[in-house]
Amino acid sequence: MSADFLAPRLRRVRPSPTAAISDQVRSLSAAGMDVINLGEGELDFDTPAHIRQAGIDAIVQGDTKYTAVAGTAALKQAIITKFNRENQIGYRADEVIAGSGAKQLIFNALLATVSSGDEVIIPAPYWVSYPDMVALAEGEPVIVPCHEKHGWKLQPEDLAAAITPKTRWVILNSPNNPTGAVYCAGELHALAAVLLDHPHVLVMADDIYEQICFVPGIFATLANVEPRLKERVLTVNGVSKGYSMTGWRLGYAGGPAWLISAMQILQSQSTSNPSSISQAATVAALEQGSDFITGWIEILQRRRTMIMNCANAISGLSADTPPGAFYVFANCQGMLGKTTASGDILRTDEDFAAYLLKSAHVATLQGSAFGAPGYLRIAYAIDDSRLQEACERITRACAELR
Ligand SMILES: Cc1ncc(COP(=O)(O)O)c(C=O)c1O
Repeated sequence: MSADFLAPRLRRVRPSPTAAISDQVRSLSAAGMDVINLGEGELDFDTPAHIRQAGIDAIVQGDTKYTAVAGTAALKQAIITKFNRENQIGYRADEVIAGSGAKQLIFNALLATVSSGDEVIIPAPYWVSYPDMVALAEGEPVIVPCHEKHGWKLQPEDLAAAITPKTRWVILNSPNNPTGAVYCAGELHALAAVLLDHPHVLVMADDIYEQICFVPGIFATLANVEPRLKERVLTVNGVSKGYSMTGWRLGYAGGPAWLISAMQILQSQSTSNPSSISQAATVAALEQGSDFITGWIEILQRRRTMIMNCANAISGLSADTPPGAFYVFANCQGMLGKTTASGDILRTDEDFAAYLLKSAHVATLQGSAFGAPGYLRIAYAIDDSRLQEACERITRACAELR
């Protein structure tokens, strides 16, 4: 009955599967089950002490009031300096905006520009929220499959074939969630060559995992690689992943002033400024650089090896080494068709993920949630000993399959 009250646009949208798995793990854990969560997209590291201190100082000094909707002058300057120093992109103050997470900025950009019937090209595997955000904006997600044999990266000819007069956006996410794929400058050049021929297409560069790269110097971003596209590119970033600040909810973006202004209008009529405390902490994060990241990368590399060794030692599972982010995207097609000890047949990647949760008490996420059935996303940014325990549990559970 109550569904009658819902707006039709909501019927086009599914709840976020990543949020759903986290909720499920929380309630199983609350019920006393020892679940190891390899489903969650966040680092287990503490936010660095100097950043936490900046948040505390903001509270003590009374930086606890509304700020300018798009962020304080200090934060905007820190964002401009970051884009200049780390990406060699020059933005003015009216070309940057801060919001309550990169998620909000992506949502606002889409809502501000996508109308009924507009198409948004989303290479798959994709971050779970893109298609649903497009659907909420009443647009049409156009999913372009990418393949393991191409390192999961969008090929220029596939991009060219997907563009139509109705295309409004292309979304590029590098390093990628869920595959960890990273586009190098040469690969972005090849995509840029296609995009230059289509001036009606905007490009979203979702760089939220920029700092989590295992190949030094490989990271590149479109507005820098092809300055002629800069007026059509929204470069999205934030502190959630690279600074382990998921709970602070602070993202930022740089792009053409008309788009930033439209996003600001939406923000002014919905959530207003992001938290003043998080803004102050983010100034400290961006200004003081991220020396700590080298240590984090070493730890993550060790954990990535643990999961890779585990996956590749199990018959029916396999994975290539991902160059970025903190996920392994394992091929589990060899598991499908197997039978559990209780006689159930695992028909889909979702069945396999559910089996691991039920039998091994390890939470992962099925590839179909990311538009790539037959795969499993394993997030490995958890404590080494728990990760080792998860590997042992997965190995045991898989050995029981016939
Ligand atoms: C690819 C991608 N983009 C954006 C986000 C959102 O990040 P934030 O926490 O800044 O909203 C995530 C979070 O998981 C992500 O994986």
